[in-house]
Amino acid sequence: MPAFTIAVANQKGGVGKTTLSLNLASAFQAGGSEVALVDADPQNTSLRWATSGAEPLQVSVTSLAPAGEKIGNEIRKLQTKYDLILVDCPGNLEDPRTPEVLKVADFCLIPMGPSPADLFSTMAMIREVANVRRRVNPELASALMLNNINGKTRMREEIMTLLREQDVGTYLFASQIAQREIYRQIFALGTTAHECKRYMRGIKEARAEIEGLAVELSQYIAQSRAKRVVNE
Ligand SMILES: Nc1ncnc2c1ncn2[C@@H]1O[C@H](COP(=O)(O)OP(=O)(O)OP(=O)(O)O)[C@@H](O)[C@H]1O
Ligand SMILES: [Mg+2]
Repeated sequence: MPAFTIAVANQKGGVGKTTLSLNLASAFQAGGSEVALVDADPQNTSLRWATSGAEPLQVSVTSLAPAGEKIGNEIRKLQTKYDLILVDCPGNLEDPRTPEVLKVADFCLIPMGPSPADLFSTMAMIREVANVRRRVNPELASALMLNNINGKTRMREEIMTLLREQDVGTYLFASQIAQREIYRQIFALGTTAHECKRYMRGIKEARAEIEGLAVELSQYIAQSRAKRVVNE
């Protein structure tokens, strides 16, 4: 079965696409899957992160940004070699790579900040996923997830209400990621929550919440694979 392919995308910059792609890839790899992380962003942040640490990351990171609009073909080639592919998408909807990635993806994970304003600035991404689903990839599923949660927030309920009102055909993951200094620190060290060998403040909590997100995604992947088997 070809690798289940998850695009981590939001045209809004700085929402945590790269942070979540790498940490999730690492969590899945630690769980025994063969994982590839594709850097689709010409800024090459994932690739630079993965190669900047004292020890190379165990997860394989490949930059496919130079393939431009042919990135979908390149991802398809990788799909025969791995169990799971995460694609860190560019933070810009005008970049032609994002729709090409969505065409060959099974799932689009859309990280966003925890406020109604963040939902509004994410609408363009939600609409883009809906367009690709309607036109070329009817199997493309998607979910929003909240990153950078700061303390106790009631924003989740407000965002849920807005999502219901807007009826945008995507849902909100239960897992959410707190705002923690540790995410910046592991970025600087070129490692991930799962691969970090040093004890650092917040590392256990980060590992646990990334694990929670990976479990939620795994449940989705298992359901979707069961459906594929029935349909084949
Ligand atoms: N949960 C978090 N807690 C604290 N810092 C975070 C968190 N998530 C991301 N960051 C920090 O926010 C910054 C932006 O994150 P990241 O580079 O992952 O976003 P991005 O969506 O990939 O950005 P771009 O659109 O530029 O590619 C980084 O400095 C990262 O360390
Ligand atoms: Mg990025």
